[in-house]
Amino acid sequence: MKASKALYAGSFDPLTNGHLDIIRRASRMCGEVVVGVIINMSKKSMFSFEERMEMIRKATEDLPNVKVDMFSGLLADYVNQNGFDVVIRGLRATMDFEYEIQMAQMNARLYKDDVETVFLMTDPQFSFISSSMAKEVHQLGGSIQGLVPDNVLEAMDKKVKSL
Ligand code: COA
Repeated sequence: MKASKALYAGSFDPLTNGHLDIIRRASRMCGEVVVGVIINMSKKSMFSFEERMEMIRKATEDLPNVKVDMFSGLLADYVNQNGFDVVIRGLRATMDFEYEIQMAQMNARLYKDDVETVFLMTDPQFSFISSSMAKEVHQLGGSIQGLVPDNVLEAMDKKVKSL
């Protein structure tokens, strides 16, 4: 496979081990992977965009071809302006499929150059995780050890104590 520049975008509020598994696998397939934190003011969040980026940087520090950035507006504009040729998405279950195919097909119309959306099947041990569920269980005192990276869990503990 030729070296490609891939985007893996999402809210990452916060990063989970499901996301990290996708990032690791994408980093083995692609020349460069940019984890793009989407600036979405309408989604109520636990962490600021900077905090999310810092947590992702820490969790991926052993992956030299992974970079972290943030962007707002259309994903396709960010892709066109930054020369990406691959967009990575993780599929957790069949329920993700309908939404993902709609997004991929809409984005395909908006890309200026040849850009492929590549779907990676989530490792079954992470197929049930979402950031919201991790936050809810953690806030109610349940253990989420192993579901989010250790540095994310530390940051979540600190955040809850500071509330
Ligand atoms: N492992 C664990 N969780 C995962 C996961 C994985 N592999 N893949 C997705 N998730 C979870 C996320 O944690 C998140 O959970 P939450 O809702 O509980 O927080 C949920 O799936 C949704 O992910 P999120 O990152 O919030 O957004 P999204 O997947 O819906 O889409 C973008 C993100 C950036 C691709 C999309 O919003 C976008 O393109 N935005 C830009 C605007 C635009 O261009 N719109 C037109 C699109 S055609």
